[in-house]
Amino acid sequence: MAGLHASVAILSWILPLLAAGAVETELLKGFKATPNRSDSAFQPVLADPTGKFSFGFLRVNESRLALAVVHVASSLPLWSADLAESARWSDRTELSFNGSLVILDPFAGVLWSTHTDGDRLVLLNSSDLQVRRGGDPPAFAVLWRSFQFPTNTLVENQNFTSDMSLLSSNGLYSMRMGDNFIGLYGSFKQGADQIYWKHKALEARADIVNGGGPIYARVEPDGYLAMYQNSSKPVDVETFSSFQRLINSFVLLRLEDDGNLKGYHWNGSDWVLDYRAITGICELPSTCGPYGLCSPENGSCTCMDHPDRSHTGPCDGHRLADLCAANSRLHVGFRVLRARGVELPYKELMRYQTAPSLERCESICESNCSCFGAVYNNASGSCYVMDYPIQTLVNVGDEGKIGYFKVSDQSDHGAKGYRVGYGVGIVMWVLIGLALVGTVLGFGFYRWRRSRRGVKGYLAEEENRVTPGQYKGLASASFKSIEIGRS
Ligand SMILES: *[C@@H]1O[C@H](CO)[C@@H](O)[C@H](O)[C@H]1NC(C)=O
Ligand SMILES: *[C@@H]1O[C@H](CO)[C@@H](O)[C@H](O)[C@H]1NC(C)=O
Ligand SMILES: *[C@@H]1O[C@H](CO)[C@@H](O)[C@H](O)[C@H]1NC(C)=O
Ligand SMILES: *[C@@H]1O[C@H](CO)[C@@H](O)[C@H](O)[C@H]1NC(C)=O
Ligand SMILES: *[C@@H]1O[C@H](CO)[C@@H](O)[C@H](O)[C@H]1NC(C)=O
Ligand SMILES: *[C@@H]1O[C@H](CO)[C@@H](O)[C@H](O)[C@H]1NC(C)=O
Ligand SMILES: *[C@@H]1O[C@H](CO)[C@@H](O)[C@H](O)[C@H]1NC(C)=O
Ligand SMILES: *[C@@H]1O[C@H](CO)[C@@H](O)[C@H](O)[C@H]1NC(C)=O
Ligand SMILES: *[C@@H]1O[C@H](CO)[C@@H](O)[C@H](O)[C@H]1NC(C)=O
Ligand SMILES: *[C@@H]1O[C@H](CO)[C@@H](O)[C@H](O)[C@H]1NC(C)=O
Repeated sequence: MAGLHASVAILSWILPLLAAGAVETELLKGFKATPNRSDSAFQPVLADPTGKFSFGFLRVNESRLALAVVHVASSLPLWSADLAESARWSDRTELSFNGSLVILDPFAGVLWSTHTDGDRLVLLNSSDLQVRRGGDPPAFAVLWRSFQFPTNTLVENQNFTSDMSLLSSNGLYSMRMGDNFIGLYGSFKQGADQIYWKHKALEARADIVNGGGPIYARVEPDGYLAMYQNSSKPVDVETFSSFQRLINSFVLLRLEDDGNLKGYHWNGSDWVLDYRAITGICELPSTCGPYGLCSPENGSCTCMDHPDRSHTGPCDGHRLADLCAANSRLHVGFRVLRARGVELPYKELMRYQTAPSLERCESICESNCSCFGAVYNNASGSCYVMDYPIQTLVNVGDEGKIGYFKVSDQSDHGAKGYRVGYGVGIVMWVLIGLALVGTVLGFGFYRWRRSRRGVKGYLAEEENRVTPGQYKGLASASFKSIEIGRS
């Protein structure tokens, strides 16, 4: 299975951890720290007893920071705090432990907190960060733990339960537990998650017992992903290619930005790819981006409107706004794009209706504003309806599989589709825009009057502010230095 292997090469910085001197292994109430090293990519605050993991300030995008637990040897972030908005790498940003682990920005206030009343913060040799109260083991209580709030990574021995989710760092994909399966979901439209991978428990070693409690998953150090219910015998085992060959290695599972779920082990110098949930490149939900077409023979991308012309850039010239949203009052229209020989990459998991004809299938979609497109299978009469913006389809060459896609008509509204309502809409938006500009200017002036003394720092802060949506990308930005090469 050599094709499954890949190496992860560290291309840029190595953590200056050893130079940092002694790092605490436990933090007590009253602890305070600021990101005050101007030159480092990571400033450790707390280390685990083995020195393999470290918790601290991780620099992202030059001047921002994430609170992260990293694997020291590779500088790979294993967990990061879900801050309401990203914090500045500035000596005015303060991390403190007062019973809660709190990160405070002088302007924005509390950006994140564990909301606990503990007396100690510890980093375990499993990479779990815990807020504890009480004496030595076993007489302590764990009030909060990072293992309960995974980001895009699940490390060995970390339990993944139905109240958790993994989120890819671009925020597009998530992993969740179902009743008897693990599912991967794409979030191409808010509130309309589409499942694209489903791994059901095979119940080979133990059966799922009705009422026997929820199932949970765990990556085992031996190199497999197991699902359990209430027994130590797994109800399912999905083996990695390194299964039972690992000694003293560290294993993890990551939900990647392309929507794939990958397993790796650390061999002492590299992260070695051990497992891929989805093996075919065209089986991923959006390999070629919106309105792209993926050829399974060679993995090459074209665009749906020109399937014969090779294409490297995105095909999203037609991106369609949500037709059900309030702005549909402006009569934003759509054109129709049809493509033959196309199929959904995960059609087994899609909802479908049976339609007697292609025309019937198209009309189901046409009349429904929440439909972005449909794919009809002429042989079976199945009509797959997409209620999220069109992503990549697979080029199957079977002429009986026909796609119907709504695309934006914005690009050529001068030629057609220019309606009276549209013109009225433009005037309305211009007026709204003018009103907004007025409000912003007025508010800005008021702010300036109110805080003339701190005005410079305050405005600089406002300009730097990013939205929580953008922040979802931070973990990936920090992992960007690590390139995963297929081989
Ligand atoms: C770890 O894996 C990389 C890439 O697969 C390889 O080049 C390296 O020699 C391996 N190191 C050890 C210690 O096995
Ligand atoms: C950073 O701040 C800590 C106290 O929070 C201090 O001990 C340390 O010397 C400072 N480091 C630098 C480089 O200023
Ligand atoms: C810890 O500090 C935060 C932020 O200043 C505050 O909101 C919280 O109440 C404090 N918690 C305790 C237990 O003192
Ligand atoms: C991790 O710590 C636990 C006890 O807290 C210990 O039993 C275990 O051997 C340690 N593992 C490693 C790899 O150090
Ligand atoms: C995971 O769950 C099992 C079974 O409930 C439990 O024994 C184990 O301690 C848990 N592991 C962690 C790291 O929480
Ligand atoms: C699991 O739960 C079922 C149903 O409650 C019970 O019959 C069974 O004994 C439990 N197994 C274990 C190992 O606890
Ligand atoms: C890839 O395969 C498709 C369909 O088989 C073919 O049309 C296309 O020319 C191929 N592209 C490349 C770059 O080989
Ligand atoms: C429109 O499509 C959505 C999602 O595909 C579906 O839930 C809804 O029932 C449809 N509405 C009508 C009137 O068919
Ligand atoms: C669909 O199937 C029917 C009969 O099964 C056939 O007559 C028709 O040509 C097919 N249409 C397309 C577009 O393949
Ligand atoms: C970080 O930088 C990248 C490109 O350099 C940008 O796309 C991204 O939005 C930035 N993220 C934040 C949180 O500033």
